[in-house]
Amino acid sequence: MHRVGVVTRSRRRRSPGDVRAELVVLANRLPVDRVVHADGSEDWRRSPGGLVSALAPVMAANRGAWIGWPGDVMEECEIFEHDGITLVPIGISQQEYEEYYEGFSNATLWPLYHDLVAKPEFHREWWDAYVAVNRRFAETAAEVAAEGATVWVQDYQLQLVPSLLRELRSDLRIGFFLHIPFPPAELFSQLPWRRELLEGLLGADLVGFQLSGAAQNFIRLVRQRVGHKTHRDTVYLPDGRTVVAKAFPISIDTAQFEKLAASPGVQARAKQIRDDLGNPRRIFLGIDRLDYTKGIYARMRAFSELIHDGHFSVEEATFVQVASPSRERVDQYRKLRDETDRLVGHINGDLGRIGRPAISYLNASFPQSEMAALFVACDIMVVTPFRDGMNLVAKEYVACRLHEDGALVLSEFAGAAEELRQAFLVNPYDINGMKAQMLAAYRADPKDLGRRMRAMRRTVAENDVANWANAFLTELTTPRPAHDKHLRPVKRA
Ligand code: G6P
Repeated sequence: MHRVGVVTRSRRRRSPGDVRAELVVLANRLPVDRVVHADGSEDWRRSPGGLVSALAPVMAANRGAWIGWPGDVMEECEIFEHDGITLVPIGISQQEYEEYYEGFSNATLWPLYHDLVAKPEFHREWWDAYVAVNRRFAETAAEVAAEGATVWVQDYQLQLVPSLLRELRSDLRIGFFLHIPFPPAELFSQLPWRRELLEGLLGADLVGFQLSGAAQNFIRLVRQRVGHKTHRDTVYLPDGRTVVAKAFPISIDTAQFEKLAASPGVQARAKQIRDDLGNPRRIFLGIDRLDYTKGIYARMRAFSELIHDGHFSVEEATFVQVASPSRERVDQYRKLRDETDRLVGHINGDLGRIGRPAISYLNASFPQSEMAALFVACDIMVVTPFRDGMNLVAKEYVACRLHEDGALVLSEFAGAAEELRQAFLVNPYDINGMKAQMLAAYRADPKDLGRRMRAMRRTVAENDVANWANAFLTELTTPRPAHDKHLRPVKRA
């Protein structure tokens, strides 16, 4: 088991009760990564990602606290400050890591919520660990939150927190946002603990989803499985409380990506990447966590068949695929890694030339500046998940195309497809259809690409992650009338 000493600014060890935060965010992970310096000292760096950058200013202004797991398996870790936010670490044991994180979160809920792309496993001990860890998060939030504070719970790992927290602190405004898809009733109903999860979420005042279809799935399930009255986006609970479920499509820090893309370092790096790849006519790009929902395997096959069929040569087009390692000890992920390694090996063995592989496959994570350089360098971004809550990489690519050029090939099963309608949309299960759209993007007229990219850039400029966070928090904190038992809204005194 790994333990790290944590940098603290206060002398006395702070307890959660000392924090008294007006805004509390709970997420499985803290928004910082541990860095170990050459001299062995340790420090924390803010993790890349829109959520924390959107919330940082509002948290700093509202005595904000973020409760989460620091990312190493550890049981003890002190509260500390970082960038004006109080960070409250939740320790989890090795066994909880296996059962709550790898197990129930990522081998039960993750595949179940992503259309059963892989088969979910149901184990009663995993559920018990999920309940125990959710309870720990809720108890910590109950101590950390000031009277009447706003609490915002994030994602599928913490779906029981809203109701567990409400039992402890009925004075709080509680919001929940699900970053991944929420499945239709027919799939969700497989879950042995379906009612408990729905009741967990109903502890919130506002339940946010990426798409309105997901919110409708939730409302329908609440009616069917819990038996509450519902009308449109509202659930009416027997005690007079209401819960609203609606869509808040998440986005990125658009201005920050634009700035990064325009910076001389990123521009120079982008040019170097093109040179290193031999300046082909077109560079295709994929950037994903190595996850079976992302459709990397089918995408590689589609690209290789385009070369094989003679539409272009490896001198004319190449594919850069970044697949960052993820959840590596979970069986399905291990299998995927092996299969993808084998396929890329085959494709490069069959089609590559000296110094000209068909696919440059990078099984690694890169800093945001390197990602931006790839977005600037590459002509055709290929995002083809079988199911994806949103897919922020698609939006990041668009934000980085400062010259309004480049093509986005996008799965219609990514949440982003509801907004980025001008992409080359594909069904990732249809390899021929995917080949046709990749080829259309390869051959597209620059005027057509410009028209598409301009429209998509407008969308991501107008809807950035700060708008998303504001919209959610405004809705959460705006007082709502209670209702009487006959569904007639009544005014609060
Ligand atoms: C998805 C989930 C996040 C999760 C991330 C990385 O985007 O919605 O909640 O943090 O994947 O996965 P990991 O298991 O490494 O946290």
